[in-house]
Amino acid sequence: MPRRVVAGNWKMHKTAAQTHAFFEHFLRHVPALPDGVQVVIAPPFTALQTAAACLRGQDRVELGAQNVHWEQQGAFTGEVSIPMLAEFRVKYAIVGHSERRMYFGETDENVNRKVHALLEAGMTPIVAVGETIEQREAGVTNAVVVAQTRAAFENVSPEHAARAVVAYEPIWAIGTGLNCDPVEADRVMSEIRGSVRGLEDAPILYGGSMKTTNVREYAAQPNINGGLVGGASLDPDEFAALIEAARG
Ligand code: 13P
Repeated sequence: MPRRVVAGNWKMHKTAAQTHAFFEHFLRHVPALPDGVQVVIAPPFTALQTAAACLRGQDRVELGAQNVHWEQQGAFTGEVSIPMLAEFRVKYAIVGHSERRMYFGETDENVNRKVHALLEAGMTPIVAVGETIEQREAGVTNAVVVAQTRAAFENVSPEHAARAVVAYEPIWAIGTGLNCDPVEADRVMSEIRGSVRGLEDAPILYGGSMKTTNVREYAAQPNINGGLVGGASLDPDEFAALIEAARG
């Protein structure tokens, strides 16, 4: 069985001061969080140093980045490299999020470069895939997510793929309150799992309007190993309750 992971993607929310306030509160929940769920929080780059300082001395919550560049350093204005993230004890990086694909020109090719660089550095990519509402209505959901997953893992060994995390995030379910039916999400996620060798052992997360009220239904599905959570990860009490309910 792949391990369970719940990752909070804060997107462009919270200053360093707000991050400090979040952790001051959230850390009170940490001793009671279920052992079987790996918790990851991905704040903005500018809050990573504060988050790392807040998390010192505990090993239940890991830090993630919301993006990364595949080169170690160089003339890439506005980008952040793996060694820069490692300094702040970042272990995970989200790659290929639909917001980056839609608004910032993230391509399958660059997602693949990032996946290689992260796995070679011993970090865990959280590879996000998902279809638009038009693609779902045209009946091409499987083809879209399988193509995105195969492209992300091109020339990645099965041993390395098994160390990654994949997130299925139907774009129409993100931030809309229209979460995907858990049985349907599980069906798509079984296609994702079967599309690349090694992913049978990798956690596959659902993302898209996951809340404390629906997480149990997702956690009960055989192919759903946790969640990639946006809005519901911003409040410390709500996020802790969601993690508790994700134990399955
Ligand atoms: P919401 O949980 O706000 O729908 O966002 C999901 C998401 O995009 C996580 O990466």
